[in-house]
Amino acid sequence: MTSLLHVEASPRGDASRSTHVARGFIAALRAGVPSLTVDHLDLWQADLPSFDGAALAAKYARLSGRPHEGREAAAWAEIERLVTRVDRAEHILLSTPMWNLSIPYRLKHWIDLITQPGLSFAFDPATGYRPLLRPRPALVILTSAGDYATGESCGRPDLATPYLRAALGFVGLSDLAIVPVGPTIGPGADAAVERAATRLRALAPGFLRAAS
Ligand SMILES: Cc1cc2nc3c(=O)[nH]c(=O)nc-3n(C[C@H](O)[C@H](O)[C@H](O)COP(=O)(O)O)c2cc1C
Repeated sequence: MTSLLHVEASPRGDASRSTHVARGFIAALRAGVPSLTVDHLDLWQADLPSFDGAALAAKYARLSGRPHEGREAAAWAEIERLVTRVDRAEHILLSTPMWNLSIPYRLKHWIDLITQPGLSFAFDPATGYRPLLRPRPALVILTSAGDYATGESCGRPDLATPYLRAALGFVGLSDLAIVPVGPTIGPGADAAVERAATRLRALAPGFLRAAS
Protein backbone atom coordinates (compact mmCIF):
# COMPACT_ATOMS: atom_id res chain seq x y z
CA MET A 1 0.00 0.00 0.00
CA THR A 2 1.46 3.38 -1.04
CA SER A 3 0.57 6.39 1.07
CA LEU A 4 0.54 10.12 0.50
CA LEU A 5 0.01 13.01 2.87
CA HIS A 6 -1.55 15.98 1.09
CA VAL A 7 -1.12 19.22 3.02
CA GLU A 8 -3.49 21.84 1.63
CA ALA A 9 -2.46 25.38 2.54
CA SER A 10 -4.96 27.46 0.55
CA PRO A 11 -8.14 28.49 2.37
CA ARG A 12 -10.02 28.88 -0.93
CA GLY A 13 -11.46 25.38 -1.20
CA ASP A 14 -12.83 24.57 -4.65
CA ALA A 15 -11.82 28.04 -5.94
CA SER A 16 -8.17 27.40 -5.10
CA ARG A 17 -5.72 27.11 -7.97
CA SER A 18 -3.14 25.23 -5.88
CA THR A 19 -5.75 22.75 -4.60
CA HIS A 20 -7.07 22.26 -8.13
CA VAL A 21 -3.58 21.46 -9.48
CA ALA A 22 -2.90 19.18 -6.49
CA ARG A 23 -6.12 17.27 -7.09
CA GLY A 24 -5.06 16.73 -10.72
CA PHE A 25 -1.68 15.44 -9.55
CA ILE A 26 -3.34 13.04 -7.10
CA ALA A 27 -5.61 11.79 -9.90
CA ALA A 28 -2.51 11.15 -12.04
CA LEU A 29 -0.88 9.29 -9.13
CA ARG A 30 -4.04 7.19 -8.63
CA ALA A 31 -4.17 6.35 -12.33
CA GLY A 32 -0.80 4.61 -11.89
CA VAL A 33 -1.41 3.21 -8.41
CA PRO A 34 -5.15 2.76 -7.71
CA SER A 35 -4.45 1.53 -4.17
CA LEU A 36 -2.78 4.84 -3.19
CA THR A 37 -4.08 6.02 0.19
CA VAL A 38 -4.30 9.77 0.70
CA ASP A 39 -4.30 11.43 4.11
CA HIS A 40 -5.67 14.91 3.50
CA LEU A 41 -4.67 17.70 5.90
CA ASP A 42 -6.54 20.95 5.28
CA LEU A 43 -4.56 23.43 7.33
CA TRP A 44 -7.48 25.88 7.54
CA GLN A 45 -9.92 23.27 8.88
CA ALA A 46 -7.46 21.42 11.10
CA ASP A 47 -7.39 22.27 14.77
CA LEU A 48 -3.72 23.27 14.91
CA PRO A 49 -2.73 23.83 18.54
CA SER A 50 -1.55 27.29 19.43
CA PHE A 51 2.22 27.19 19.80
CA ASP A 52 2.65 29.05 23.05
CA GLY A 53 2.16 28.29 26.75
CA ALA A 54 2.52 24.60 27.61
CA ALA A 55 3.37 23.57 24.03
CA LEU A 56 6.25 26.01 23.81
CA ALA A 57 7.41 25.16 27.33
CA ALA A 58 7.39 21.49 26.28
CA LYS A 59 9.76 22.30 23.40
CA TYR A 60 12.14 24.20 25.68
CA ALA A 61 12.00 21.32 28.17
CA ARG A 62 13.08 18.97 25.39
CA LEU A 63 15.86 21.35 24.31
CA SER A 64 17.25 21.57 27.84
CA GLY A 65 16.79 17.88 28.66
CA ARG A 66 14.16 18.56 31.36
CA PRO A 67 11.22 16.10 31.68
CA HIS A 68 7.79 17.46 30.78
CA GLU A 69 5.72 18.81 33.68
CA GLY A 70 2.01 19.38 34.16
CA ARG A 71 0.21 20.33 30.93
CA GLU A 72 3.41 20.07 28.86
CA ALA A 73 3.04 16.30 28.34
CA ALA A 74 -0.47 16.61 26.87
CA ALA A 75 0.60 19.55 24.68
CA TRP A 76 3.61 17.56 23.44
CA ALA A 77 1.42 14.54 22.65
CA GLU A 78 -0.67 16.73 20.32
CA ILE A 79 2.49 17.87 18.54
CA GLU A 80 3.70 14.27 18.30
CA ARG A 81 0.45 13.32 16.55
CA LEU A 82 1.11 15.95 13.87
CA VAL A 83 4.68 14.77 13.33
CA THR A 84 3.52 11.14 13.17
CA ARG A 85 1.10 12.09 10.40
CA VAL A 86 4.09 13.28 8.34
CA ASP A 87 6.32 10.42 9.37
CA ARG A 88 3.94 7.63 8.42
CA ALA A 89 3.37 8.91 4.85
CA GLU A 90 5.64 7.51 2.16
CA HIS A 91 5.16 10.62 0.01
CA ILE A 92 4.37 14.23 0.84
CA LEU A 93 2.42 16.66 -1.34
CA LEU A 94 2.08 20.27 -0.26
CA SER A 95 -0.08 22.70 -2.21
CA THR A 96 0.17 26.34 -1.29
CA PRO A 97 -0.34 29.83 -2.64
CA MET A 98 2.37 32.46 -2.33
CA TRP A 99 1.31 35.09 0.18
CA ASN A 100 3.26 38.33 0.37
CA LEU A 101 6.35 36.81 -1.23
CA SER A 102 6.27 33.85 1.15
CA ILE A 103 3.73 31.32 2.50
CA PRO A 104 0.34 31.61 4.28
CA TYR A 105 0.64 31.90 8.05
CA ARG A 106 -1.22 28.62 8.65
CA LEU A 107 1.50 26.77 6.74
CA LYS A 108 4.20 28.50 8.80
CA HIS A 109 2.24 27.53 11.92
CA TRP A 110 2.20 23.86 10.85
CA ILE A 111 5.94 23.93 10.04
CA ASP A 112 6.62 25.46 13.48
CA LEU A 113 4.58 22.66 15.07
CA ILE A 114 6.28 19.76 13.26
CA THR A 115 9.84 21.06 13.64
CA GLN A 116 10.65 19.60 17.03
CA PRO A 117 13.73 18.31 18.86
CA GLY A 118 13.74 14.56 19.27
CA LEU A 119 10.81 14.18 16.86
CA SER A 120 11.91 15.67 13.55
CA PHE A 121 15.44 16.93 14.25
CA ALA A 122 18.28 16.28 16.67
CA PHE A 123 21.10 18.51 17.86
CA ASP A 124 24.51 17.44 19.03
CA PRO A 125 26.98 20.16 20.08
CA ALA A 126 29.80 18.18 18.45
CA THR A 127 28.12 17.36 15.14
CA GLY A 128 25.35 19.94 14.83
CA TYR A 129 21.81 19.41 13.54
CA ARG A 130 20.52 16.15 12.07
CA PRO A 131 17.10 15.59 10.46
CA LEU A 132 15.09 12.75 11.99
CA LEU A 133 12.36 12.22 9.40
CA ARG A 134 13.41 9.54 6.96
CA PRO A 135 13.96 10.83 3.43
CA ARG A 136 10.98 10.43 1.10
CA PRO A 137 9.75 12.11 -2.08
CA ALA A 138 8.08 15.43 -1.40
CA LEU A 139 6.54 17.83 -3.88
CA VAL A 140 5.32 21.39 -3.46
CA ILE A 141 2.82 23.05 -5.79
CA LEU A 142 3.31 26.79 -5.38
CA THR A 143 0.79 29.09 -7.05
CA SER A 144 1.31 32.81 -7.46
CA ALA A 145 -0.34 35.71 -9.26
CA GLY A 146 3.10 36.65 -10.52
CA ASP A 147 5.31 34.65 -12.86
CA TYR A 148 8.43 33.73 -10.91
CA ALA A 149 9.98 31.61 -13.70
CA THR A 150 13.09 33.78 -13.68
CA GLY A 151 13.24 34.03 -9.86
CA GLU A 152 11.56 37.42 -9.60
CA SER A 153 8.21 38.84 -10.63
CA CYS A 154 8.25 42.58 -11.43
CA GLY A 155 11.29 42.91 -9.17
CA ARG A 156 9.62 41.03 -6.29
CA PRO A 157 11.53 37.98 -4.98
CA ASP A 158 10.10 34.51 -4.32
CA LEU A 159 10.97 33.88 -0.67
CA ALA A 160 8.66 30.86 -0.43
CA THR A 161 10.89 28.54 -2.48
CA PRO A 162 14.16 28.98 -0.52
CA TYR A 163 12.27 28.99 2.78
CA LEU A 164 10.40 25.74 2.04
CA ARG A 165 13.58 24.05 0.81
CA ALA A 166 15.47 25.03 3.97
CA ALA A 167 12.66 24.41 6.48
CA LEU A 168 11.49 21.07 5.07
CA GLY A 169 15.07 19.93 4.41
CA PHE A 170 15.91 20.70 8.04
CA VAL A 171 13.56 17.94 9.22
CA GLY A 172 14.56 15.48 6.48
CA LEU A 173 12.32 16.32 3.53
CA SER A 174 15.20 17.29 1.29
CA ASP A 175 14.09 15.15 -1.66
CA LEU A 176 11.85 18.06 -2.62
CA ALA A 177 10.55 19.16 -6.01
CA ILE A 178 8.88 22.55 -6.22
CA VAL A 179 6.53 23.16 -9.13
CA PRO A 180 5.72 26.86 -9.56
CA VAL A 181 2.36 27.74 -11.11
CA GLY A 182 2.02 31.30 -12.32
CA PRO A 183 0.70 33.69 -13.28
CA THR A 184 -2.61 32.48 -11.83
CA ILE A 185 -4.39 35.77 -12.45
CA GLY A 186 -4.88 37.48 -15.80
CA PRO A 187 -4.79 36.36 -19.41
CA GLY A 188 -1.92 33.86 -18.95
CA ALA A 189 -3.49 32.08 -15.97
CA ASP A 190 -5.20 29.13 -17.66
CA ALA A 191 -2.11 28.41 -19.77
CA ALA A 192 0.14 28.50 -16.67
CA VAL A 193 -2.13 26.05 -14.84
CA GLU A 194 -2.20 23.74 -17.85
CA ARG A 195 1.61 23.89 -18.19
CA ALA A 196 1.99 22.88 -14.56
CA ALA A 197 -0.62 20.13 -14.88
CA THR A 198 1.24 18.68 -17.88
CA ARG A 199 4.55 18.79 -16.01
CA LEU A 200 2.97 17.10 -13.00
CA ARG A 201 1.39 14.33 -15.06
CA ALA A 202 4.90 13.59 -16.39
CA LEU A 203 6.38 13.63 -12.87
CA ALA A 204 3.70 11.36 -11.33
CA PRO A 205 5.08 7.87 -12.18
CA GLY A 206 8.61 8.71 -11.01
CA PHE A 207 7.33 10.37 -7.84
CA LEU A 208 5.67 7.17 -6.62
CA ARG A 209 8.51 4.91 -7.72
CA ALA A 210 11.07 7.07 -5.89
CA ALA A 211 9.97 5.91 -2.41
CA SER A 212 10.59 2.21 -2.93
C1 LIG B 1 -2.85 37.55 1.16
C2 LIG B 1 -2.36 37.30 -0.23
C3 LIG B 1 -1.07 37.63 -0.59
C4 LIG B 1 -0.58 37.37 -1.87
N1 LIG B 1 0.72 37.66 -2.17
C5 LIG B 1 1.20 37.37 -3.40
C6 LIG B 1 2.57 37.63 -3.71
O1 LIG B 1 3.36 38.10 -2.93
N2 LIG B 1 3.02 37.33 -4.97
C7 LIG B 1 2.17 36.79 -5.91
O2 LIG B 1 2.61 36.54 -7.02
N3 LIG B 1 0.87 36.51 -5.61
C8 LIG B 1 0.37 36.80 -4.39
N4 LIG B 1 -0.94 36.50 -4.08
C9 LIG B 1 -1.78 35.85 -5.11
C10 LIG B 1 -1.87 34.34 -4.90
O3 LIG B 1 -0.58 33.77 -4.71
C11 LIG B 1 -2.50 33.69 -6.12
O4 LIG B 1 -3.80 34.23 -6.33
C12 LIG B 1 -2.57 32.19 -5.97
O5 LIG B 1 -2.90 31.60 -7.20
C13 LIG B 1 -3.60 31.77 -4.93
O6 LIG B 1 -3.59 30.37 -4.84
P1 LIG B 1 -4.89 29.61 -4.34
O7 LIG B 1 -5.94 29.87 -5.38
O8 LIG B 1 -4.50 28.19 -4.27
O9 LIG B 1 -5.27 30.17 -3.01
C14 LIG B 1 -1.44 36.78 -2.83
C15 LIG B 1 -2.75 36.45 -2.48
C16 LIG B 1 -3.21 36.71 -1.20
C17 LIG B 1 -4.64 36.34 -0.84
